[in-house]
Amino acid sequence: MTSRGWIAAALAILFTAALGIALLKHKTRSSTTREGQTTAYRPWKKRKLEFNKQIAPIVFEKCARCHYSGSAAPFPLTSYRDVRNHARAIARALDHGLMPPWKPEHGFDEFVGDYSLTDQEKGMIKQWLAEGSREGNPSKAPAPPKPPLQWPLGRPDDILQTAESFKIPADGEDIYRCFVIPTNYAEDRYVRVADVVPGNPRVVHHVVNFVDTSGRGRARDAAEPGPGFTAFGALGFPTAGELGAWVPGAVPNPLPDGVGYFLPKGADIIMQVHYHPTGKEETDLPRIGLYFCKQPVNKRLRVMTVGVPPGFLRIPAGENNCAFWAEQKMPGNITVHQIFPHMHLVGREMVAAATLPDHTSAPIVRIRDWDFRWQNVYTLKTPLHLSAGSRIRFEARFDNSSGNPRNPNSPPKLVKFGLTAKDEMCILWVLYTVDSEMLTLNEPASSNYPDSWTDGVWGHPSWGRKQGGEPNAGNQVPMSRLHGLR
Ligand code: HEC
Repeated sequence: MTSRGWIAAALAILFTAALGIALLKHKTRSSTTREGQTTAYRPWKKRKLEFNKQIAPIVFEKCARCHYSGSAAPFPLTSYRDVRNHARAIARALDHGLMPPWKPEHGFDEFVGDYSLTDQEKGMIKQWLAEGSREGNPSKAPAPPKPPLQWPLGRPDDILQTAESFKIPADGEDIYRCFVIPTNYAEDRYVRVADVVPGNPRVVHHVVNFVDTSGRGRARDAAEPGPGFTAFGALGFPTAGELGAWVPGAVPNPLPDGVGYFLPKGADIIMQVHYHPTGKEETDLPRIGLYFCKQPVNKRLRVMTVGVPPGFLRIPAGENNCAFWAEQKMPGNITVHQIFPHMHLVGREMVAAATLPDHTSAPIVRIRDWDFRWQNVYTLKTPLHLSAGSRIRFEARFDNSSGNPRNPNSPPKLVKFGLTAKDEMCILWVLYTVDSEMLTLNEPASSNYPDSWTDGVWGHPSWGRKQGGEPNAGNQVPMSRLHGLR
């Protein structure tokens, strides 16, 4: 590179680094967030809030989707009595922002299935609890909510499961078990959406579905006793794709017409299930339901990795504020449909945004209180179009001090990239389609776009590290520059 080229490259890196630091810094806007909701709570008239009138509709919609009897949640929230009996725990969970466990912050992209409370709803529940949790007229009690439907999209085209059920011991560490399920399809297929029904919702915390054509999943399965094999985060070998994820409370969300998850003939599906022991021995036999694309498919959903590479990710013992960034430049026009941020247990905070060639920015996601247990694949309400030359930037902060209650090492140790709970990862997987791909017209995407889950690093990746000090250092990019510019 010429010296001018180097200077330009250095400036570009400095500019993007400053943008990223600013991204980690900016605070939630205090004015309007989603669709005209304001963030300030407008209190109700004193002692006018009643469960049967104002509170039940909120709790039944936003909490009961997970808090029903027999679910992974510790108690149901499907009646006045349930809510009153857990009033203290609810007030605490709301104050600490623990519940509902929807992680993406408002003011970034909006995602399908958002079950977070608005500030108004949260304020109403808190005011109602503080004023003594009045029930209101018992004859006006609303009908209790129904537990979530199995297969809410109707009967899947095919339902697959492992041959044997899996035993989860009464206590001990959480278990991450990967079940290898052959599809045995003789031809390639496209899947519109995959849905998961746990055999035993009490123990299942989350599920990630991979597609494997290498046979390595089968080999791992054969090498370990019992159904499946154990792998905490990534599987440890390249997979051919993914089929979405499931967490309690999630509603399956089909891809748009003309877009499909590619399921090559003969592929295996690997369901990675996170089990949380319940205090008594349990068994589970999860099922995955496939809904195939009925319309002609023009585009595959592909995966791109925006991440800090293995050799570079080192988080020194004791550091509570170790930030990394990674960036990827788009080689052509693409459309982003879903994102899947991924860190392990010392990961605390992450933010992602796109910068367009005209230097305008599009915020994508921010999670301030990262929790591995509530990771998810998020579907953008409005797909994000990125023209060639746009960049997606991902920035994440790790806390490897003893002050992080989730730190898996006590005392803290150097944490490096790896696949176990004691290692880390720093990745944003971006699920996207290539605008020029038109399979029905025989126009494939160029080879610039690999579509394998783990080979998906392409284009011009860059990454770096900012260590120590306030995450707030650097120039602030005003939120106005990050909003409404698409
Ligand atoms: C997406 C599923 C989900 C939703 C939605 C949800 N919860 Fe929970 N909740 C859980 C699970 C699972 C737990 C058990 C703890 C954990 O796994 O984090 C829990 C735990 C709790 C606890 C106990 C926390 C403690 O340990 O003291 C309270 C209180 C609670 N939830 C209240 C609520 C309220 C109120 C709402 C609605 C505003 C809500 N939850 C919405 C899944 C959910």
